[in-house]
Amino acid sequence: MDLSIIEADLKAVEISFQEYLSSRVPLIAKIGKHILTSGGKRIRPAILLLSSRLNGYAGERAIRMASIIEFIHTATLLHDDVVDNADIRRGNPAANTLWGSEASVLVGDFLFSKSFHLMVDDGDLKILGILAEATTELAEGEILELVKTGDFSITTQEYMDLITSKTAVLISAASRIGAVLGKATDEIEEAMKEYGLHIGIAFQLVDDCLDYTATNESLGKTIGTDLREGKVTLPLILSLERATNDERKRVQDIVLSDEIAQRDFDEVQEIIQKYDGIEATLGLAKDHVEKAKSHLKMLPMKAEREALEGLADYIVQRDR
Ligand code: FPP
Ligand code: MG
Repeated sequence: MDLSIIEADLKAVEISFQEYLSSRVPLIAKIGKHILTSGGKRIRPAILLLSSRLNGYAGERAIRMASIIEFIHTATLLHDDVVDNADIRRGNPAANTLWGSEASVLVGDFLFSKSFHLMVDDGDLKILGILAEATTELAEGEILELVKTGDFSITTQEYMDLITSKTAVLISAASRIGAVLGKATDEIEEAMKEYGLHIGIAFQLVDDCLDYTATNESLGKTIGTDLREGKVTLPLILSLERATNDERKRVQDIVLSDEIAQRDFDEVQEIIQKYDGIEATLGLAKDHVEKAKSHLKMLPMKAEREALEGLADYIVQRDR
């Protein structure tokens, strides 16, 4: 992934985080800094910046919007790690490990509220509407995931809807906002929205594969968290469709047990391997990457478009 053409803008985004974190309560900046300087990939800000530049917008508002979108994403991660009982994020102890769940949830609330405050300052009702809609759907997706915990009857379609809501809509909003800043036509705005949506779906599909295939070190998270939390993700859904009744029953017992030992995790991994659950999921992720890129076809062949295409390819090549 080559983001050199927006390097200066991405630096400006980092600087604005400091400003937006300032508060009379020092714990906010402490936790905010901990998670914001922990080596996030900055995919959402990069997409927003590239999309705005590709659509001819060269002003400062893109920096502000890119910071806002990362703030929203960071707020959701603080909440998500509490919900998922995750202890590590980006190779560091998760905020909830260091400061507890209460502080994590509340600082997440601060980042989320601050984001909307900054949007109101910017004053663009259309962008405010896009982000209000996206964050509502995102919360809905996360709640749907909670409801589906340990549910083996989840279908591929339901799972795809779920990841579209919890992950893809925010990435889609980032991409679309770039077009809005550039005052693009409705048709182009729609294309940018679709680009982000397919990138987001591919991103989450790969995330779900990495939860089975990566190492804790490369991923910077504890692998196997999905299974331990009872999340039935696509690699498992597709494998269970092909598995024998005995295998299905065995996986169900493991997921519903109180403690999942390493050998239980290994057993599930073997079943996924036997039925090519990872390959099938990655194949689908690649289809979405191609779809994402195809939506860029009507945009001018500029360096920003190439970078967005490269970013799409990176999504399925990454190991963290
Ligand atoms: C990560 O999924 C989680 C999300 C993409 C969405 C989280 C959303 C919320 C917690 C609710 C809304 C919160 C606000 C502030 C509006 P994952 O657990 O699969 O990814 P991971 O492996 O990186 O943890
Ligand atoms: Mg999580």
